[in-house]
Amino acid sequence: MATSAPPGSQDTAIAHVVGARPNFVKAAPVVAALRARGAHQRVVHTGQHYDDRMSAVFFRDLGLPTPDVDLGVGSGSHASQTADLMVGLEREFVENQPGMVVVYGDVNSTVAAALVAAKLGIPVAHVEAGLRSFDDTMPEEINRRVTDQLSDLCFATSPEAVGHLAAEGVSTAKVHLVGNPMIDTLLGNLDRFDAEALRARLALPERYVAATLHRPANVDDPDNVARLTERLHEAAELADIVMPVHPRGKAAFDRAGLGDHPRVRLLEPLGYLDFVALTRGAAAVVTDSGGVQEETTILGVPCLTLRPNTERPVTITHGTNRLVTEDDLIATLDKVLDGHVDERLGDTPPLWDGRSGERIASVLTRWSG
Ligand code: UD1
Ligand code: UDP
Repeated sequence: MATSAPPGSQDTAIAHVVGARPNFVKAAPVVAALRARGAHQRVVHTGQHYDDRMSAVFFRDLGLPTPDVDLGVGSGSHASQTADLMVGLEREFVENQPGMVVVYGDVNSTVAAALVAAKLGIPVAHVEAGLRSFDDTMPEEINRRVTDQLSDLCFATSPEAVGHLAAEGVSTAKVHLVGNPMIDTLLGNLDRFDAEALRARLALPERYVAATLHRPANVDDPDNVARLTERLHEAAELADIVMPVHPRGKAAFDRAGLGDHPRVRLLEPLGYLDFVALTRGAAAVVTDSGGVQEETTILGVPCLTLRPNTERPVTITHGTNRLVTEDDLIATLDKVLDGHVDERLGDTPPLWDGRSGERIASVLTRWSG
């Protein structure tokens, strides 16, 4: 189902730019809420992620409309990928003249779309604005800061994000605390995450730890991957490990022999419904994913984040998340699996109530109306 008027009709549609796996999960409730209001929309897929398991499966699982266009940009170095994204998006925006461009999260597609739209004088709305790890070695941190500076509307998922935007001089008039659309998607699909059915289908053990790692700092350096593989093999002595492997780290983990341990089960990337079912059924999760830190917070599953920092501290203060290093992973996992750790430290983060898409749609239609 396409959502647009014919290309070149000079319409004033709201264009949603999505490109990578987490974008799809965040955009789904916003697109649905705008659709319910009869808004004229266009879904622009940049093609940053393109494997069926990294892209199309999310459109099927989430009932997202088939993108009106797929720019087919694909992979590349930061500069070449961002350049290709910008060229493709400029052509798309010039041809279809959107009245507003909505961007999601912190991937290269996000910052490329914000740059192109801003230079064409098209208003930009950023969903998930204001998150900061204060770690400029993460490409996402650069993408976040630039995108927020270029945005006319900043939709924040947490109070600390609002504070970061204020500290960087973003006018409070642009900032709306709306909660977390990724959690809308989670709550809206709760009765579809069937951990038992997944366990039976994939012949998973009764008790397992789900793992997912894809940050460059963890998976790009082969020596680091070899060390992480040793740690994960040690972890597998405590509980079976089930890891859907992101394509970024696949070759390195294969070379390091991660799957050689009898209690480590490597899988292809899972679709959204299967992945959250895997998470829901897990005794704990080991991850470096941003989205997974948030989803485990709501599912109440202990989350060990293998990173020195997080741009989502609300998942620690209000959720089940804790930061771990390679050195303390095993001791912490041992305690968590023994139930010796108080999991939930606070209430659910404010406004993570399943209604964020509706709040965003309300601001967008008021603003563009
Ligand atoms: C990107 C985002 C990251 C986000 C992640 C979500 C940037 C800078 N990074 O990282 O913030 O957390 O998506 O998953 O935008 N590949 C495939 N098939 C695909 C897509 C990628 O094989 O469908 C492989 C390619 O070898 C590619 C590599 O994965 O070079 C990395 O892809 P890319 O989109 O550049 O970055 P991610 O690591 O996926
Ligand atoms: N996810 C998925 N299949 C997987 C791994 C993750 O569907 O094999 C989902 C996960 O539930 C969350 C999103 O993808 O909704 C997070 O994406 P990712 O970890 O790739 O990116 P990040 O959030 O770190 O930017």
